[in-house]
Order: sequence, then structure tokens, then C-alpha cells
Amino acid sequence: MSQRGFVLWFTGLSGAGKTTIANNVEPELERRGLVVDHLDGDIVRTHLSKGLGFSKEDRDINIARIGWVASRVARAGAVVVVSAISPYEEMRRHARSLVEQHAPFVEIHVATPLEECARRDPKGLYAAAFAGEIAEFTGVSAPYEEPLEPELRLDTSGKTPTESAATVLERLEELNLLPPRVEATS
Ligand code: ADX
Repeated sequence: MSQRGFVLWFTGLSGAGKTTIANNVEPELERRGLVVDHLDGDIVRTHLSKGLGFSKEDRDINIARIGWVASRVARAGAVVVVSAISPYEEMRRHARSLVEQHAPFVEIHVATPLEECARRDPKGLYAAAFAGEIAEFTGVSAPYEEPLEPELRLDTSGKTPTESAATVLERLEELNLLPPRVEATS
């Protein structure tokens, strides 16, 4: 059992809870002895995709890059957790096809409704978008295409991050992707 890599891809609106759930899932994956890396949209955009904007073309490039890196790293045996809006079905499929040449691809649609994301507005971006100050803002002035057949669809409204993470871990268990916990040796 040396190659246990897979990609856990969170897609959904800004503020839906992708990063928060990912951050809650990661420690449990590590407790299972998995090596984990997290490619978060906001962070990728300060390095690998620095300089890209939010036109469809730029988002497609961003997602193609993330998908390519994720496929390489998963092939090497690590778990890659991705949290990126990834609003276009075609590019998510492209990422899936790259990854599935080497490793399982698990798509989690964080389906928190727009109203709830806008109510949370953790970065104040929805207020600015509704005021017309941000062009091409996903869910307001740019599209979000819902995944048709994600491995899991999850609405975080009224749920704690721990509860949402538990739902994701249950799904990974069902898919036989979680090794048993590594017990501490004394
Ligand atoms: S993606 O569409 O290319 O997948 P990504 O997840 O990398 O997007 O980046 C989204 C983050 O960029 C949001 O969480 C938000 O902080 C910021 N952002 C800035 N402008 C926009 C915009 N026009 N639409 C969506 N997100 C934006």
C-alpha cells in the first residue's frame, strides 16, 4: 500500500465553506497516516496563478493548473485537497480526467445557497459585488455551474465545520479511501 493518493476537490461559491471544511478534514487524514497537501484558490493565486484575474479564460487556466499539479502529486501517493470556486463544469471534468489517469477524484459540491454565502460575507466581497464594485463576481455577475454528479453535495447552512467535515470523512470511508487510524505507540 504505497500509492494511496487521491484528490479531494471542493467546489462552490465564495464563502460557501470550502476552505473551512478542508482545514477541518486535513488533520484527520493526517491521523490516518496520509501525506496531505492543500491547494487553496486564494493561496494558489498568490503563487502558481499570480497575475490571473476572474474572466472565464483566466479561471480556466487557474483550474487547469490546479488540476495538473493535483494529478502529479496524487500520482506520487499524497492526498491533494483542493478548495477553489471552480465554477465551470467543463474545467472540473478536465481536472477529473487528468487525475483519474492516476488516482481517484472525489468532488465535493459545497452547496451553501448564495443568500447564506452573502449573509456570511467573510471578506466583504458580496457587498462590493452587489454594489457593482467587483466585475464578474461568481454568483452575482458571473456564473456558477452546479456539478451534475459530485461524489457528495453538502449544504453547510446551520452546520458546524466539524459536522460538515465529518460528513466528508464518512463519504471517504464509503469510498474506501480512508486507511485505519494510526495508533500512537507507547
Ligand atoms: S476560481 O473561479 O478560479 O476557481 P478561486 O477559487 O481561485 O476562483 O478564487 C476565488 C477567490 O478569489 C474568492 O474566494 C475571493 O476571495 C476572490 N475573488 C476576487 N474577485 C473575485 C471574483 N470576481 N469572483 C470570485 N472570487 C473572487
